[in-house]
Amino acid sequence: MAAAASIRIHANRPSHVVSRYLYSQFIEHLGRCVYGGIWVGEDSKIANDGGLRLDTVAALKRLKLPALRWPGGCFADNYHWMDGIGPRDRRPKRQNLWWRQPESNAFGTDEFMRFCKLISTEPYVCVNVGSGTVEEARSWIEYCNGTQPSSIVEMRVANGHPEPYNVKFWGVGNESWGCGGNLRPEFAADLCRQYATYMRQAAGPDAKLTAVGSEPSVPDWDERFLDTLGEFVELVDYIGVHVYSGKGIAEIEFSDDDYKRLLVDDVKRKTDYIKRAIETVRAHTTPRRAFGLILDEWGIWYKEATIERGHWQQSTMQDALFTAISFHKFHELAANLFMANIAQTINVLQALILTQGPQLVCTPTYHVFDLFMPHRDGRFVPCDATKVPTIKSPQGNEAAALSASATLSADGKELFVSVVNLDISGAYSTKIEIKDATPWALRHVRRLCTGNLRSHNTFDEPENVVPQDVLVEAGATLDEMTFPAQSVTTVRLTAR
Ligand code: AHR
Repeated sequence: MAAAASIRIHANRPSHVVSRYLYSQFIEHLGRCVYGGIWVGEDSKIANDGGLRLDTVAALKRLKLPALRWPGGCFADNYHWMDGIGPRDRRPKRQNLWWRQPESNAFGTDEFMRFCKLISTEPYVCVNVGSGTVEEARSWIEYCNGTQPSSIVEMRVANGHPEPYNVKFWGVGNESWGCGGNLRPEFAADLCRQYATYMRQAAGPDAKLTAVGSEPSVPDWDERFLDTLGEFVELVDYIGVHVYSGKGIAEIEFSDDDYKRLLVDDVKRKTDYIKRAIETVRAHTTPRRAFGLILDEWGIWYKEATIERGHWQQSTMQDALFTAISFHKFHELAANLFMANIAQTINVLQALILTQGPQLVCTPTYHVFDLFMPHRDGRFVPCDATKVPTIKSPQGNEAAALSASATLSADGKELFVSVVNLDISGAYSTKIEIKDATPWALRHVRRLCTGNLRSHNTFDEPENVVPQDVLVEAGATLDEMTFPAQSVTTVRLTAR
């Protein structure tokens, strides 16, 4: 029997906008993310458009991803962009230093831009600060965005791209406290001043520059880095922190306690870390220019995702619940959190897509991105789930078993609600109260639920975990609904 619960949706109190960029992505030259997952080459038997695999393009295009960060990650700080332009047979072969694999440079700037265009996403390029030069960073911007008849722009034109790419998002290095040079925050801040001076000048005032932020193992980085940037914080627009989850947990053979560690402890840790970073950012914002926060890399990193396996890992129903509850937290914080890039889109870490030769499968994580699309750019509506028991982690942290998040469309005519039931065994028969005067009609209900946290999609069984429509009767309203254990439900309502 389902336990009773209730949810209140305060549709009369819409607040901040839930930036669509929270649903952005990150790809790196790592394992089979780029080579195999995106790029197969023009001569491949796998159907492709000029070397870019068509099934990947189709699957990602459907999700309308807002932005895509490239080429890394650690790889970015050892990448020299000129290696990746011009005729492919003449591009130098390099060693991918961090991920110990050969780098053919077949996928470079023009291929990345073409991929972004095919999937209708905005490019976000991270420059090499760790082992590159300021001039390399500046000239990369000129190659992408330049319009004057300079030699660099002529190179782009000669490579078949007369029009500028107009790249708006630029990263000033990656993890400078680690693979990006093991720098001290004070030195990194001085480097950032130098790089950002030339990058800003080259990219123009409307470009968005992201400085390197911390991750939980270097918690005082942001403070010291921003203190040293001082008033030059105005050269950049965001600081980008990284938070990975799931340390030591197995991809499929996890225990119920591991599930609670991930969904209760790690989600809390990530949320608290973002809140702390928001405070730091606030304390360093000048009155002259807005400065904000990006979660530049996030997601689950299971213990099987090692260099030897190309950081490949399976994604289960557990990942779907983690993704959904993470988005609920991001929505709450969206007044101060602009972008979030899950790591990484294809074949690496918490991937949305897995490929094997010519086969492709969408993971449960993909399906949450799909289900949550209507939340993007909606206005946040506070929700509270009451009379709901909590789930407790072995460490003693607690989280409400039922979580709701709601957004109102810009014209106020559509209300979109997602509900996550984290309970491993309990369903909730839930009374729902929408607190405003609008007569809302229930239009569409979809659900991701398999009854098995460990279920996942394989190349033989690609549809083990896929969203299902829930039958809605004509004229139905949203007064009561039962949310099964381990489920993600989305509800679309329109004003009558
Ligand atoms: O996403 C894998 C790696 O994790 C990235 O290259 C790096 O930025 C982070 O440590």
